[in-house]
Amino acid sequence: MHLFSAMFLLVMFAGMPSEALYPSPEEGWQIYSSAQDADGKCICTVVAPAQNMCNRDPRSRQLRQLMEKVQNISQSMEVLDLRTYRDLEYVKNTESLMKVVDGKLKVASENPRSLNPKGFQELKDKVAQLLPLLPVLDQYKNDAKMILRLREEVRNLSLVLMNIQEEMGAYDYEELRQRVLLLETRLHSCMQKLGCGKLTGVSNPITVRASGSRFGCWMTDTMIPSSDNRVWYVDGYFKGRRVLEYRTMNDFVKGQNFVQHSLQHPWAGTGHVVYNGSLYYNKYQSNIIVKYHFRSRSVLVQRSLSGAGYNNTFPYSWGGYSDIDLMADENGLWAVYTTISNAGNIVISRLEPQTLEVLQTWDTGYPKRSAGESFMICGTLYVTNSHLAGAKIYFAYYTNTSSYEYTDIPFHNQYSHISMMDYNPRERMLYTWNNGHQVLYHVTLFQVIKTSGD
Ligand SMILES: *[C@@H]1O[C@H](CO)[C@@H](O)[C@H](O)[C@H]1NC(C)=O
Ligand SMILES: *[C@@H]1O[C@H](CO)[C@@H](O)[C@H](O)[C@H]1NC(C)=O
Ligand SMILES: *[C@@H]1O[C@H](CO)[C@@H](O)[C@H](O)[C@H]1NC(C)=O
Ligand SMILES: *[C@@H]1O[C@H](CO)[C@@H](O)[C@H](O)[C@H]1NC(C)=O
Ligand SMILES: *[C@@H]1O[C@H](CO)[C@@H](O)[C@H](O)[C@H]1NC(C)=O
Repeated sequence: MHLFSAMFLLVMFAGMPSEALYPSPEEGWQIYSSAQDADGKCICTVVAPAQNMCNRDPRSRQLRQLMEKVQNISQSMEVLDLRTYRDLEYVKNTESLMKVVDGKLKVASENPRSLNPKGFQELKDKVAQLLPLLPVLDQYKNDAKMILRLREEVRNLSLVLMNIQEEMGAYDYEELRQRVLLLETRLHSCMQKLGCGKLTGVSNPITVRASGSRFGCWMTDTMIPSSDNRVWYVDGYFKGRRVLEYRTMNDFVKGQNFVQHSLQHPWAGTGHVVYNGSLYYNKYQSNIIVKYHFRSRSVLVQRSLSGAGYNNTFPYSWGGYSDIDLMADENGLWAVYTTISNAGNIVISRLEPQTLEVLQTWDTGYPKRSAGESFMICGTLYVTNSHLAGAKIYFAYYTNTSSYEYTDIPFHNQYSHISMMDYNPRERMLYTWNNGHQVLYHVTLFQVIKTSGD
């Protein structure tokens, strides 16, 4: 097992395609939540006010809004709950491991002859390093308890709302609204607290589908919170205009139920990202970023990324007009590129999603042409050293401290040619396009938990 310093706790975050995250009918939530029917279609059942209610009654409108809020909260809750459940399992394992080490130490100190002096010292050092973790583990268990409490509150609230349906008017709406607001705020801070960490591992690849050419890009919406389950598919790396929209991950796997969008401006590279219902991409033969809104099928804004190289001047190691890579993480929208004045080293800019203005820029010092791909998790850019077999995550740049370190995080590059690699903060998965295969990876994050002593 790894030894780590007192303030760090290794926590497993494993995501899964988002349809599976929503509550199942057996849990009794189905009236507020999306669930899957027998064909795997995503259904969303909304409880309408009773038939005899006048729809223009402001109270019934307020009630519907409250229900929608609770529906949203319960969806976030399920995601959080699934994560913490897994995290807690990990914590429990770590804890029992520590107890084993501690037990061995006791045996050894009572019967010193069972262990040679070198082994004894090693064991002692190990325990000394593990002990400060105990309060962190306790803290973690408290967090998990808090989530259980929050979950119960959501259940209670949704029960109250269900009752109201039957006896409209008997409740104080203002009080209910306050309860929902409070719950929302607490849930938000809870998610932020448990949300972020440092990448320490990548799972085995999960091949979702084999389709398209060697180069391409696929993804789901990256904004938190969002209940948008559609899958976006962009095959090819230059001068294309066609974007496919699949209704769900299941439809994507089966290659069914899709519609097509034809972009007004062609794209360059595979660095596109879908964020809050819009596709952000690099316009062919320019350093212009385009924001295309899917629902209205229109370009909302386009703006030049000042100084950014384009047209295969500064691509990743695999070429393919990959000069400008757009991505989103827990902190928002980012562009990864380089300029002549940065001598071809990777530059990160945080973008304002409505106007595409650059909010802040960091120079990582890492040569872009020596990077296979890069992706952002919790404000940290991770860079691979190749797009070919044997690639690993080799470099990390922390925007929070403007510092970097070399890393050595292996992953299995199964089809030996990665032309896209992006983190989805909603699902906590890496989306990759590998030689005509659409592949996912789970990630392991090292979580920082502040204890009262620091
Ligand atoms: C629920 O979430 C959806 C999608 O994120 C959002 O459009 C809607 O405004 C939310 N509703 C409420 C009442 O917060
Ligand atoms: C939920 O409702 C039950 C029964 O009314 C109550 O005992 C419990 O304290 C409530 N939980 C929360 C967190 O409000
Ligand atoms: C910066 O972010 C990384 C992970 O993204 C985290 O491990 C580190 O503790 C953060 N540093 C500070 C000073 O917040
Ligand atoms: C998401 O889009 C909606 C409109 O479609 C907008 O009102 C909202 O501010 C956007 N949120 C973010 C974080 O960009
Ligand atoms: C892009 O590169 C191609 C070939 O390298 C060249 O013919 C073309 O003029 C360039 N376009 C721009 C806008 O720089």
